Amino acid sequence: MPVPSVRAARVPALAKINLTLKVLHKRPDNYHELRTVFQTISLGDWIDVEYRPAKTTRLHVDCNPEIPDNIILRAANAVLHEMRLKAEVHFHLRKRIPMGGGLGGGSSNAAAVLLALPALAGKRVPIDTLTRIAATLGSDVPFFLCGGTALGLSRGEELYPFPEPGVSHGVLVTPRIHVSTPLAFRRLRRHLTIPHNSRIINSFQSFSWEVGDNLPAASWREFCQNDFEEVVFRQHPEIQRLKKKLISSGASVALMTGSGSAVFGFFPNRPDAVAAAQVFPDTESVVFRTVKRARYRSLWWESLEAHALDHTWPPLSRYAE
Ligand code: C5P
Repeated sequence: MPVPSVRAARVPALAKINLTLKVLHKRPDNYHELRTVFQTISLGDWIDVEYRPAKTTRLHVDCNPEIPDNIILRAANAVLHEMRLKAEVHFHLRKRIPMGGGLGGGSSNAAAVLLALPALAGKRVPIDTLTRIAATLGSDVPFFLCGGTALGLSRGEELYPFPEPGVSHGVLVTPRIHVSTPLAFRRLRRHLTIPHNSRIINSFQSFSWEVGDNLPAASWREFCQNDFEEVVFRQHPEIQRLKKKLISSGASVALMTGSGSAVFGFFPNRPDAVAAAQVFPDTESVVFRTVKRARYRSLWWESLEAHALDHTWPPLSRYAE
């Protein structure tokens, strides 16, 4: 009997930052209504995936340091179930995105699995099905199916393309502080907008009409706000000090991402970002650039070229067909 062939690929899982993050009211399902703009950046993990058809599903993740309740396994089980396939899949995760930093590392890993397994299995799963599965895994996971710059509404899983800033250079500072996202949301309670007038935020709405393609992210200063900063800075003043240090090092915009603890700053060019990064310990700072939707898509295409079914991969919406 022929041995079933192994299909392998090395796929990217980039980090995100939130260029702005407004938290509105708490909803009846206990999630919070968000208005946010996500942006993929060049910092990322790599996942080596080995896929082998099998009679029973066996999944293995090898990662150092080990991650409890690895979302990669949940994503793999969910997408194999959707394809009605059984397989042995080995994931080797090269982790570079710090955990608990508000950079969406786990969510990005999950989306990478959702995109990679159908291509390796030679099956087509429509993007709306992947989006539905992604939203069950975490509020940020759907964003990583598309990348680039996107407006996130609802829990963050309702996404619309947003005008992309020109490729911008920044420094990301990742202190060794783990901020619990559910706890950060609970601490926000007193500061939330009242439900009846919070559906539209006028400043947010008017900015989104004003921004044009290719404006560097540095000129988004007025727009870059994060509602978590107040409560997280109160608990961890050292994060606020990092933000101030980025600004005094020449950043035109500096902001905490997600519920923290990472803080990013944008600089006029890469040499300025490299110079500013020297002010921070090597282990806690990284120079990055923003990654646009088209580049995100081509990174995926390059990783799975040998396996992709045709040039409509990664899958487009049925509305694009
Ligand atoms: O969806 P995800 O699993 O990433 O969310 C983690 C936690 O963050 C949720 O259990 C919830 O406490 C909080 N959350 C929220 N509102 C959101 C997203 C997350 O309250 N829009």
